[in-house]
Amino acid sequence: MTVQRLQQFGETIFATMTQLATEHNAINLGQGFPDSDGPPRMLEIASENIAAGNNQYAPLRGVPTLVQAIAESYKVPQENVTVTVGASEAISATVLGLVEPGQDVIVLEPYYDAYAAAIALADANRIAVPLRASGESWDVDVEAVRDAITDNTAMIIINSPHNPTGAVFSSAALEALAALCIEKDLLVLADEVYEHLVFGGHEHVSISSFPGMDKRTVVVSSAAKSYSCTGWKTGWAIAPPHLLDGVLKAKQFMTFVSTTPFQPAVAHALTNEAEWLSDMVRELDACREILVGGLRDAGYGVHDCRGTYYLVADVKASGMDGVEFCQQLPETKGVAAIPLSAFTDEPEPWKYKVRFAFCKRPEVIREAVKRLLG
Ligand SMILES: Cc1ncc(COP(=O)(O)O)c(C=O)c1O
Repeated sequence: MTVQRLQQFGETIFATMTQLATEHNAINLGQGFPDSDGPPRMLEIASENIAAGNNQYAPLRGVPTLVQAIAESYKVPQENVTVTVGASEAISATVLGLVEPGQDVIVLEPYYDAYAAAIALADANRIAVPLRASGESWDVDVEAVRDAITDNTAMIIINSPHNPTGAVFSSAALEALAALCIEKDLLVLADEVYEHLVFGGHEHVSISSFPGMDKRTVVVSSAAKSYSCTGWKTGWAIAPPHLLDGVLKAKQFMTFVSTTPFQPAVAHALTNEAEWLSDMVRELDACREILVGGLRDAGYGVHDCRGTYYLVADVKASGMDGVEFCQQLPETKGVAAIPLSAFTDEPEPWKYKVRFAFCKRPEVIREAVKRLLG
């Protein structure tokens, strides 16, 4: 039995593809989790905290050292910060705490699946606006967003660097979108979990940095991607107190608090591990290049990947669409990937696009390339 508003959600494509990957002993480039650990000292601090008995409920807004580290890192007052159970909880709590049932929430398509679920849980309406092609990548189609806004629109969810396309939205598009949000009095949920994972001279710009936007934006991020600890589920939301109030009201009854001993460890990472982070991004960039080269050699079109740890190939040359391609890939090549159509309401324009994750050790990416070429 499932309530009506959740009936649209079946088994996720990630579960399906991971199962196929396991069945065929394939290298799983479908799901986005790294196969190496975060900064060693960060890991030690978590263990030390567990051993020292720091194992009971944290305060609602998070362990003070982490709240302080987040506030310093984002240059905001501590009262604008709450720690959450990953970015995922920050996303759900933002939508549940700030959007009324029946209001519209705009998402940019293709979109991360948790947005649809959060909107459905809030009994709000999802309005998907496709990204527009921009060179070999994608950007926000601000005019299409304008056309989608009505008096019933409460919020827009944006995600840059963008999963699943690897796009990093341009400063010009974000500035125009910011002006539109102010004109139409919209709230913004800015999912910036890949904020540090940018390549090739591209720069992450937060929509909250444009004039007037800090008052209407909830910025969401997490330690998961920056410090390779997806299993710690330690994230945060940053917003002015009048918005954070709604986020906290929803959060306090979903989970109350996030796991305690990981929080001092993440505080350490935010404060002291900039060098580890830049080394990790350099290694990721090398993996990106290996995979781009391999996919090109295998005869596929490859889109620009400017950020995140995903890149998009166009598999039209295979004679299959993305879903068919991904269904046979684990068996025929021993590699798993995800069709972009799984992230859309309107799959047609994305029909031949397939997402490959490259957050694996270089030798694993090399082996995947060998298999794709085999
Ligand atoms: C765009 C985006 N937002 C949020 C998340 C979830 O982050 P967390 O694991 O911190 O909940 C992910 C994870 O893949 C993601 O890709």
